[in-house]
Amino acid sequence: MTSKNLYWHKGKVSISDRENANGHKSACLWFTGLSGSGKSTLALEVEAELFKLGIQTYILDGDNVRHGLNKDLSFSETDRKENIRRIGEVAKLFVDAGIIVLTAFISPFVNDREQVRKLLPEGKFIEIFVDCDLETCEARDPKGLYKKARANEIKDFTGISSPYEKPVNPEIIIDNGKNSDLNKNIAKIISHLKSKRIIDFK
Ligand code: ADX
Repeated sequence: MTSKNLYWHKGKVSISDRENANGHKSACLWFTGLSGSGKSTLALEVEAELFKLGIQTYILDGDNVRHGLNKDLSFSETDRKENIRRIGEVAKLFVDAGIIVLTAFISPFVNDREQVRKLLPEGKFIEIFVDCDLETCEARDPKGLYKKARANEIKDFTGISSPYEKPVNPEIIIDNGKNSDLNKNIAKIISHLKSKRIIDFK
């Protein structure tokens, strides 16, 4: 609940002051997809590419954030919602700081992702659906979690015992199935950022 006795302090440095100093716009690249779909790998590669171009970037990743800020949260529907709400607020701070923040969370619910979209200034939430079929994710199983989920050792596992709602109208769809091409996928995201004048905007 928000207290009635809180007041918002407006800073003297605006978001566009920061963007002008940085030479690029800020944005949130929101990667969503099943566990094992390749969200983190792709986000890390895109970040490295942007960093090489001199862009201010930061990554928020599901597994890492759940070690700290969100270590009190489970994988129940309510806690996943809270997970995404907090990440959304953190992403908003990064966007306000003029940075391109990349987030890699399963974020399985359409409504939670749309809440984050609404939290950010118009055009700054870029939803990237990392599309990979369950069979391929399960075959990859980099952390052995699908195996555990099938053996009922993990409950509420996305794709097995908990739902994943695909994005309805994402800004970018990445085909990250069996025969995906990492370099092509990185280039697709960078070229979207150029076409929207988020980078190369001067
Ligand atoms: S989210 O659904 O709340 O967005 P998040 O991206 O933070 O999930 O965390 C997902 C990561 O936690 C997965 O990549 C996986 O390594 C791990 N994990 C552990 N238990 C589960 C579970 N029940 N469902 C999905 N992922 C899980």
